[in-house]
Amino acid sequence: MITFDAVTKRYPDGTVAVDDLTLEAPTGEITVFVGPSGCGKTTSLRMINRMIDATEGSILLDGRPVREIDPPTLRRGIGYVIQQAGLFPHKNIVDNIATVPRLLGWDRRKARDRAMQLLERVGLEPGMAERYPFQLSGGQQQRVGVARALAADPPVLLMDEPFSAVDPVVRTSLQDELLRLQAELHKTIVFVTHDIDEAIKLGDRVAVLRVGGRLAQLADPETLLAQPTDDFVREFLGHDRGIRRLQFVPTDGLPLRSGLTVPEGYDGDRSEPWLLTVTPDGRPVGWVPGDGKGGPEPFGTFRPGLDSMRAALDAALLSPSGCAVAVDDDGRVLGVATRDDLDAALTGAVDGGRPHARPERGHE
Ligand SMILES: Nc1ncnc2c1ncn2[C@@H]1O[C@H](COP(=O)(O)OP(=O)(O)OP(=O)(O)O)[C@@H](O)[C@H]1O
Ligand SMILES: [Mg+2]
Repeated sequence: MITFDAVTKRYPDGTVAVDDLTLEAPTGEITVFVGPSGCGKTTSLRMINRMIDATEGSILLDGRPVREIDPPTLRRGIGYVIQQAGLFPHKNIVDNIATVPRLLGWDRRKARDRAMQLLERVGLEPGMAERYPFQLSGGQQQRVGVARALAADPPVLLMDEPFSAVDPVVRTSLQDELLRLQAELHKTIVFVTHDIDEAIKLGDRVAVLRVGGRLAQLADPETLLAQPTDDFVREFLGHDRGIRRLQFVPTDGLPLRSGLTVPEGYDGDRSEPWLLTVTPDGRPVGWVPGDGKGGPEPFGTFRPGLDSMRAALDAALLSPSGCAVAVDDDGRVLGVATRDDLDAALTGAVDGGRPHARPERGHE
């Protein structure tokens, strides 16, 4: 666990970059620092591995003040990833990744084996190993940056806007990759970004900072979206807050109806306004009007339990029937969630997250 205890950083010119910051980044979780440019995110991060020393207060690593640990020893247990990866241009990829193990005195072969293993782990082809950084795309370089930070298997990972310089599609895949890795590795990660969507996607906890380095709110993403502590946080979170919150509402309790699905060529009861035609192996074909005239019309699907209410609602909005088609991992129909059922689930979710119904979680 990383603890900030009343930490202030005043630069020699008088700039207060971080002001009385108190928070915890729990072991094995991703804590995100988010806020506008100049709010002290980088300064806060660099005080953890002592690239910058705090002016007042203390930072503790598992209860021990980092001030008492000499920087090289401290950094051995802390991986560091920055924007544009910061790879060594004159070293090939495998040597870049093996940097820290080599510094720690691992023999060449062991360090190389570890590097090759990590290359694969971050989703790169072994064939990339002998290339130089300039021969990689920005997204690939970022992956190498993550692999290099993980090489000596440090328990702590500091990441400063690691995915900011790549396009949105690559960025999404890097984020997914990080979440996948984290599910296996359980590192204690402090992740800095100015992108609130990235913060909400990646963070177990999100610390919103305001300029002047003051903590505005610390909360899990769902609470942040439901209960921003003040206008600054509300504005920083941006539009569609209500809709975005639905991504945290599960779909496992949603009732699924089987009576609305019919085989192709069906000629039975047609009292329902819309019926979903399904192939013999259970895949959806489309919605057809109950009277059998016209169709098939488009449909939207979601995977109950795996996808959120946001996905289920999106699926419903894509169908003329207003119903969301529930499918399994293979795309086979499990049933249909009607608009009434979605409505009822939404009402429950809204009640459950009513601002006054829960204790305030800001300023923990
Ligand atoms: N060496 C320095 N000397 C004086 N002021 C500094 C120094 N480094 C940073 N600052 C100031 O401290 C404040 C916080 O800077 P910091 O780099 O931590 O912000 P940030 O949140 O990471 O911003 P960005 O999103 O732009 O990266 C800013 O006002 C910055 O100008
Ligand atoms: Mg910064």
